[in-house]
Amino acid sequence: MIRPDAGVPQEPVPVPQLVSELAAELGAAGEPEPVWRNALGGLTFKAHRADAQWFIKWQDITALAPAQQAEADLKAEAARLRWAGQFVNVPEVVDDGARSGQAWLVTRAISGLSAYVPQWRQHPEETVRAIALGLRRFHDALPVADCPFPLSWASAAPDAPAPEQLVVCHGDPCVPNTLLDERGQFLAHVDVGALGVGDRWADLAIATYSISWKVNFGRSYDQLFFSTYGVDPDPVRINYYRQLWDRS
Ligand SMILES: Nc1ncnc2c1ncn2[C@@H]1O[C@H](COP(=O)(O)OP(=O)(O)O)[C@@H](O)[C@H]1O
Ligand SMILES: [Mg+2]
Repeated sequence: MIRPDAGVPQEPVPVPQLVSELAAELGAAGEPEPVWRNALGGLTFKAHRADAQWFIKWQDITALAPAQQAEADLKAEAARLRWAGQFVNVPEVVDDGARSGQAWLVTRAISGLSAYVPQWRQHPEETVRAIALGLRRFHDALPVADCPFPLSWASAAPDAPAPEQLVVCHGDPCVPNTLLDERGQFLAHVDVGALGVGDRWADLAIATYSISWKVNFGRSYDQLFFSTYGVDPDPVRINYYRQLWDRS
């Protein structure tokens, strides 16, 4: 999951041997370029040749505690991408696997720009609307009855509010996981490793929470988000899922 300490690596990142090998197998030109580091030390690289681009996600599993290993399970993400790709725009899986304590996931690049890219900060309201419309589209398109995955990060605790509406949640609807087109309109979602059936407020609370973080838009856009999505704010469920997120 994305927490405020994730981001674009600011210092040189050594390319793991495994990532270089995967890029070579793809026929990529040059060294893969590091584009993202997550809070678990997982890295995403971009690789390309003249006619194709890919993203290679890599995670060293050995350094993680068992609970974190579940979160970093790229096999789970590959399965969810394959399933969700039937209904919504998410990256196409090219390859995934694990060996020697390292996991990888290769996807075909979607040519868009993540909503975290600084250029969108000049247009916060348009960007918030695009993220909200993207999440609405996601919730409307994915069939709950056919979804084989539960939303495990928010699995019902005894004190959980009753679900207001079950949907297939994205599971990690933070700003960087929405891709926009060149005009700033919603294009696609990435990072669906935690996708699963749950209350839509699990997604709604965290999408808006993430927008407010300093690393993203630095203030609340809850009202605009909820009116664009088409729902009245539900303070009890919003607080519940934000507190759960902070504890998880
Ligand atoms: N197939 C893809 N097409 C376009 N961008 C991608 C793709 N895969 C990853 N990205 C970019 O790389 C970033 C990191 O990938 P992500 O799956 O979100 O990793 P993490 O789980 O570490 O957050 C995303 O925010 C997005 O900008
Ligand atoms: Mg992400």
